[in-house]
Amino acid sequence: MTDTTTMQCTALISKMIEWQQDMKASNRTIGFVPTMGFLHEGHVALIQEAKKNNDCVAVSIFVNPTQFGPGEDFEAYPRNLDADVRLAAQAGADIVFCPEVEEMYPTDGGIRIVPGPLADQLCGASRPGHFDGVLKVVLKLVNIVQPTNIYFGMKDAQQLAIIETFFRDYNCPATIVRVPTVRELDGLAKSSRNVNLSDQERNEAPAIYETLQQGQVLVLEGVANDVVKQFVTDELEKKTSGIVDYISILTYPQLEEPTAKSKNLIIACAVQFPKARLIDNIIFEREG
Ligand code: PAF
Repeated sequence: MTDTTTMQCTALISKMIEWQQDMKASNRTIGFVPTMGFLHEGHVALIQEAKKNNDCVAVSIFVNPTQFGPGEDFEAYPRNLDADVRLAAQAGADIVFCPEVEEMYPTDGGIRIVPGPLADQLCGASRPGHFDGVLKVVLKLVNIVQPTNIYFGMKDAQQLAIIETFFRDYNCPATIVRVPTVRELDGLAKSSRNVNLSDQERNEAPAIYETLQQGQVLVLEGVANDVVKQFVTDELEKKTSGIVDYISILTYPQLEEPTAKSKNLIIACAVQFPKARLIDNIIFEREG
């Protein structure tokens, strides 16, 4: 645990760079946890993992407008900086970087980072431009923080696959660490967006993970993917009031249509409730 009074907090890129340069000057490794805030136990797990394996830990809190499309929940995205700073300190962060939008995006020369076919599936298909915005902000944050290791949760499996590919292909020097999804006792994946569920929707939402687990079993039993996808869709429509945006079974991390020989698979879905879009997945292996 870091004392909130000793943990640093800055909204300035220049201060963040100064901090990382000081750490580097004393040969300290930096673990970095990029977040959009409204921290929960999933973020705490990322910070704790970073703390275990690095000399110091930076956490960014920035609701990144470039990854939200028109009509998405940028304004409604939950925010609570004071609580985030306390939780980050308790989890062991040494610095919180919480810039305003104007600090991160003072100019726009129109250069775009286009993630390519990995973004055509899953969330990328329903959220055009979303992963362009994610890559843009992640690259900016990595250039500012210059971490040794960077931590991402596996709930955002497509984001992770795209960032891993980007780092590999563009020689980004930080090492990516995958951290398993943290769940509520009833199985619902922890998400900042869960607070935007009504009581009834919150009661329905554990069906997402339950149904994905049933889908995984069917895939492992050799049931055809289309049949499994229809089963999961029907179950989710029966058990929740949300609208099923997609249910996909793909190879992971390539995100391609599996063949009978494909071993590493993901079953993933997104369910849209009126004020919260929930995603979840299971990454698993089967005999090829
Ligand atoms: O996963 C998130 O919270 C965001 O997409 C990230 C990686 C912090 C970029 O804004």
